[in-house]
Amino acid sequence: MGFLGSSPSSSSSLPLCFLLALFLALSAAVVCNGGHTSSFIRKEQKSVDMPFDSDVFRPPSGHNAPQQVHITQGDHEGKAMIISWVTMDEPGSSEVVYWKENGSSRKKTAKGKYTTYKYYNYTSGYIHHCNIRKLEYNTKYYYEVGIGHNYEVGIGHNVRRFSFTTPPPVGPDVPYTFGMIGDLGQTFDSNATLTHYENNPRKPQTLLFIGDLSYADNYPNHDNTRWDSWARFVERSVAYQPWIWTPGNHELDFAPEIGENKPFKPFTHRYHVPFKASGSTSPLWYSIKRASAYIIVLSSYSAYGKYTPQYQWLEAELPKVNRTETPWLIVMVHSPWYNSYNYHYMEGETMRVMYESWLVEAKVDLVLSGHVHAYERSERISNVAYNIVNGKCGPVKNQDAPVYVTIGDGGNIEGLANNMTNPQPDYSAFREASFGHAILDIKNRTHAHYSWHRNQDGYATEADSMWFYNRVWNPVDDSTSSES
Ligand SMILES: *[C@@H]1O[C@H](CO)[C@@H](O)[C@H](O)[C@H]1NC(C)=O
Ligand SMILES: *[C@@H]1O[C@H](CO)[C@@H](O)[C@H](O)[C@H]1NC(C)=O
Ligand SMILES: *[C@@H]1O[C@H](CO)[C@@H](O)[C@H](O)[C@H]1NC(C)=O
Ligand SMILES: *[C@@H]1O[C@H](CO)[C@@H](O)[C@H](O)[C@H]1NC(C)=O
Ligand SMILES: *[C@@H]1O[C@H](CO)[C@@H](O)[C@H](O)[C@H]1NC(C)=O
Ligand SMILES: *[C@@H]1O[C@H](CO)[C@@H](O)[C@H](O)[C@H]1NC(C)=O
Ligand SMILES: [Fe+2]
Repeated sequence: MGFLGSSPSSSSSLPLCFLLALFLALSAAVVCNGGHTSSFIRKEQKSVDMPFDSDVFRPPSGHNAPQQVHITQGDHEGKAMIISWVTMDEPGSSEVVYWKENGSSRKKTAKGKYTTYKYYNYTSGYIHHCNIRKLEYNTKYYYEVGIGHNYEVGIGHNVRRFSFTTPPPVGPDVPYTFGMIGDLGQTFDSNATLTHYENNPRKPQTLLFIGDLSYADNYPNHDNTRWDSWARFVERSVAYQPWIWTPGNHELDFAPEIGENKPFKPFTHRYHVPFKASGSTSPLWYSIKRASAYIIVLSSYSAYGKYTPQYQWLEAELPKVNRTETPWLIVMVHSPWYNSYNYHYMEGETMRVMYESWLVEAKVDLVLSGHVHAYERSERISNVAYNIVNGKCGPVKNQDAPVYVTIGDGGNIEGLANNMTNPQPDYSAFREASFGHAILDIKNRTHAHYSWHRNQDGYATEADSMWFYNRVWNPVDDSTSSES
């Protein structure tokens, strides 16, 4: 949510008539009755951060033991993995040793690099990143970090071992299961969301993370030790399966009042992504292919107006998506373009105006957002027909359009967004103010099962679900309200 209280740093400036149209569009949207507003009322409870001495933040024991281990896809196709971790006492080794579960016993070693940064009066540990490449598809690998051959405690003393499984080769009918979490933070509710995610019987293989990681910026001077504690908290999942990162507003850490005027400094030092593999010039927007999905990550907080690097990249990127190879096209962007809660009103609107028509033209299946701390799923709607004389300025049903899901309900310290516009607008299919996570279970090129799981009394409950019909291979109406 908008800790900074500032609008996106777009370089686009819109003419007045455009703004008027937007205003009319929004007012038109709220007069109709829409889908379902869940009657589930969550217990009012303040979300508080888990204290520093909580079990989830405990560093591994031993001199310079690697901590905050996390992995993400390291190339465009899914045959590489970026392994990252932090050492606190001294640099130590940046090497990763890895081997196939059932291969010959030969172990391979990859060399990484480490970096450090300073933020106000905080100095980071040694942040290691090592991209291991030429992995085989569909294979379980073990890997070790903290290979210690430089100091007296002896070889292997503080080595930590983890594992992951590579995806199947990119292809149209490869089943694959993605999880989705946004705006997680590090409260007791965040811990419940992560636990429910880990225990989900659909066994998600990769997490699409929709931005707003640690909320360290809610602390005085953006206390970056909360970036460290967050990374220790989520290690239990992200050391074993890749999380695909999207930048949110809480990654900006832009604080000129304390001399910190380089946006995204902690985030970009700590979380590396394979942006060059998709021809991007910035780690804040990029794409990957994974199994049968093509995933495009956009930055709500980088310039996106005409002529900007992000605009040029996306314009060239969308035509490259080959739906015969990857039928499922998913876009992640932190700030939602459709949102019927009384929070972050119109914050995503200028970006929607810039890019919505491209996404409809490209027949994107799903747009995932966070930012608003609640859950909402839209109908397939678009608002791209408008010109200055035709009056067509409201969202309309459109079978070429994506479903917009807002899932900023990971459980962070800022609490739930529970104030909704009433009546529920036509474009909104389902909304509920609860914490939770979602799953997209891709079956083949035509069908994917989607579900949202609320945190309820210590259990995850499937509170919303639908079958996604692929927009290219099965473009029939998949609306839950028109389903027979
Ligand atoms: C790999 O080995 C594990 C046990 O170590 C076994 O359960 C699994 O079936 C094996 N997989 C293959 C593909 O051989
Ligand atoms: C940084 O400054 C704050 C107050 O300005 C202080 O409480 C904190 O202990 C300092 N941290 C370090 C590492 O010096
Ligand atoms: C977080 O959740 C895990 C798994 O359920 C549990 O073991 C741990 O005690 C929880 N920690 C806190 C601080 O709630
Ligand atoms: C799209 O992918 C399919 C399957 O991999 C391939 O046969 C086809 O040539 C590709 N089309 C283009 C235009 O590259
Ligand atoms: C909900 O939001 C509206 C619009 O911002 C505001 O007028 C209203 O007072 C809010 N209601 C509550 C209960 O906070
Ligand atoms: C695709 O998956 C759906 C849902 O599991 C199934 O009903 C359908 O038969 C599958 N299509 C093919 C061609 O296997
Ligand atoms: Fe946010």
